[in-house]
Amino acid sequence: MKVLVIGSGGREHAVIRKLKENGEIDQLFCAPGNGGISVLAKPVNIKATDLEGMVQFAKDEGIDFAVVTPDDPLVLGMADAMEAAGIPAFGPSKAAAQIEGSKVFAKNLMKKYGIPTAKYQVFDDPAQAISYIQLENQFPTVIKADGLALGKGVVIAQNLEEAKEAVRSIMEDKIFGKSGSQVVVEEFLTGKEVSVLAFTDSHTVVPMVSSMDHKRAYDNDQGPNTGGMGTIAPSPYYTKEAASRCMEEIFLPTIEAMKKEGCPFKGCLYFGLILTEQGPKVIEYNCRFGDPETQVVLPLLKTDLFTILKAVREERLSELDIQWSDGAAACVILASGGYPKTYETGFPIQGLDEKGEHPGVVVYHAGTKRQDSRFLTAGGRVLGITGLGKDLSQALEKAYGAVKTITFERAHYRTDIGKK
Ligand code: AMP
Ligand code: GLY
Repeated sequence: MKVLVIGSGGREHAVIRKLKENGEIDQLFCAPGNGGISVLAKPVNIKATDLEGMVQFAKDEGIDFAVVTPDDPLVLGMADAMEAAGIPAFGPSKAAAQIEGSKVFAKNLMKKYGIPTAKYQVFDDPAQAISYIQLENQFPTVIKADGLALGKGVVIAQNLEEAKEAVRSIMEDKIFGKSGSQVVVEEFLTGKEVSVLAFTDSHTVVPMVSSMDHKRAYDNDQGPNTGGMGTIAPSPYYTKEAASRCMEEIFLPTIEAMKKEGCPFKGCLYFGLILTEQGPKVIEYNCRFGDPETQVVLPLLKTDLFTILKAVREERLSELDIQWSDGAAACVILASGGYPKTYETGFPIQGLDEKGEHPGVVVYHAGTKRQDSRFLTAGGRVLGITGLGKDLSQALEKAYGAVKTITFERAHYRTDIGKK
């Protein structure tokens, strides 16, 4: 079998490592991939958002199964395009991917079906958004651009001035382009944040081990928001009780709601949750595996991943008994100095072997390039170093032990992943 994975980050490296364990797959391809991924899968120089080019390649190469992992190709309809060309694909349809592609769609869905989330209003006029914020007069308040904005479309405004500035820059200056034609203004929620990724074939939902991201660039949750600077799994705050409430009040109602709306969700659905005093609430949905959540969740998966992906696509998920390891995982991101703003690339990375690995940990390549037998930095998030252990402290000890010996010029990482 020939399998194509679409995407290029640490998440895709984690998916590919798992697919490598399956004996049925003869050849793996990754478009466009990265330095570390190229050790395991043949790189294909096609952009993840190039639907036409990707389908043509898949047809020419005789790809038997495509795995679509990033948000933008999914929202553009990559899974539909593959299926339409007769290539089985894992990933939600364009219609189902709206759950991430439009915050207005997601919020309205939750309201209509009584799924717990922050109170909100939608605006397509900046003046009306501002007068609503003024009238509510509750700070902090949360302002979100409707569409995809590279994870940066959320502003937590501490006062009216910041709120006005956010509405202006999103709606008038259009800093996120068309994504800012509408905004959601919502109530600020407090509580522990937990991410739960779940496999779903639109009938059955199988939550994966919970995880916790660290979004800010610097220690103690300071600095700008990033794609994620580190993760742990499982989250110590996600108790059995929280898990069963989430299943009853959030996970099952969400897949039912998507079915009723005529866009059944098949793929990996990411629930961004906050555990408030009134119970768990949804902060966001993503239509895909999280990055870097996947780098701590998949290493704990004991069941064969390819078997699961096929069962999801064929709507046979209820037939599987998916098993997880009892241990813990911690991933620390090594980023380029300056990320998430401007940064330089092209620095040689020390501490990796010729396969891009390091003893005792799993090294996920996010932004690297392979040159001869060495690896160079090639992105904002460069590597995700995952330690595995019987508990969280052992996992963290392993990850941080390795982080100290893997270096490149101007490398930056948080020293407090998992501390809270
Ligand atoms: P998102 O891109 O929707 O994940 O939002 C980015 C981050 O903003 C989340 O991980 C939360 O930390 C925070 N956030 C978003 N919505 C809210 C909210 N309603 N209340 C509190 N924090 C929020
Ligand atoms: N780490 C957050 C995300 O994947 O959206």
